[in-house]
Amino acid sequence: MPRENAGPVWAVVGATGAVGREVLGLLSGRGFPPGRVRALASERSAGRRLPFGEASVGVAALGPGAFEGCAVAVLCADASTARAHAPEALGAGTLVVDNSSAFRMDERVPLVVPEVNGQVLDGPDGPRLVANPNCTTIILVTALEPLRRAFGLEAVDVATYQAVSGAGLGGIAELHAQSRPGRRAGSPPPRVFHEPCAFNVFSHDSPVDAATGVNGEERKVIDETRRIWSDPGLRVTPTCLRVPVVRAHTEAITVTLAAPAGEREVREALAGARGLRLLDDRSANAFPTPLKATGAEDVLVGRVRPDPGEGPDEAGRYRRWCLLACGDQLRKGAALNAIQIAERLARAPV
Ligand SMILES: NC(=O)c1ccc[n+]([C@@H]2O[C@H](COP(=O)([O-])OP(=O)(O)OC[C@H]3O[C@@H](n4cnc5c(N)ncnc54)[C@H](OP(=O)(O)O)[C@@H]3O)[C@@H](O)[C@H]2O)c1
Repeated sequence: MPRENAGPVWAVVGATGAVGREVLGLLSGRGFPPGRVRALASERSAGRRLPFGEASVGVAALGPGAFEGCAVAVLCADASTARAHAPEALGAGTLVVDNSSAFRMDERVPLVVPEVNGQVLDGPDGPRLVANPNCTTIILVTALEPLRRAFGLEAVDVATYQAVSGAGLGGIAELHAQSRPGRRAGSPPPRVFHEPCAFNVFSHDSPVDAATGVNGEERKVIDETRRIWSDPGLRVTPTCLRVPVVRAHTEAITVTLAAPAGEREVREALAGARGLRLLDDRSANAFPTPLKATGAEDVLVGRVRPDPGEGPDEAGRYRRWCLLACGDQLRKGAALNAIQIAERLARAPV
């Protein structure tokens, strides 16, 4: 075995999908040798080859014995596949990070954004299975964590503008097909989404609760945000939309702080924070966009301003602040966050 291929093997389940390919790209970008990657997917993909930097890796079907000898498994498939196969990986002594919703609300499984609550991964008896939060939630809590630490939070209102790749490779293909030159709006008819995604904006494609009117994505944002911050009473009010953007979610946030803050304090808290980059140039009207966020590891934050509907207190401070966050939901919202968790669990950088 070549020397570079000696060392822990990482399994990537769902390697052929949007998140799985991103995990492969990040691993190869960090110099991870292809011989230490086990790319797994459904039977349909067995035998395919996927690019891995300058090299490529073969795909095997996820089946019995798939995790033997693997130190880490990053699961990038659907929730039922995760539920069916995580126990087998754990039984093989493999550390598991799951990108699906399967374990996110399971109290026995930590739900982690390393910049926010990464300390739960540390210590000699760290978890063997960790849930990666929903992509919209990761971007939201990463953007707001510095304000939460500095001033406390009372309420979060957020409208999201979510990229089609949030629905996987099928979402990207549908947007490209519907936006080819000469195509009229709505053609070909949607299959992945319930509305045409090109030239359109529509309520998120997750099921809507008939009684509350809250859709599945909004419910994840509410429940997961509260869980990550251990704040079950936090007021979280999301409206989740899908927009014709290939990649990176945008979030327009209004936050109510527990303690009032001045503009300089707010900017200072955001500017020095891990995992985010302040991009806020009022004179040039230059703020975060999904194109700027695409491929970035940081969440971009800008348009920072006090709520114009609220007057300042006697010290010129405000409790309600508006900001715009854009994050690459395939990177920080999924693959990168999972790799950061796995590295910290394995106590070794890739
Ligand atoms: N897309 C995002 O922005 C995003 C963000 C955060 C979390 N997530 C979550 O990450 C997971 C993957 O999402 P995605 O967007 O990458 O979806 P995707 O592009 O549709 O890819 C799905 C992947 O799952 C694999 N798969 C399906 N059934 C399988 C089975 N029975 N055994 C093994 N592999 C199987 C597929 O393999 P084949 O190619 O062989 O079918 C494919 O590699 C989902 O749980 C999603 O909710 C997605």
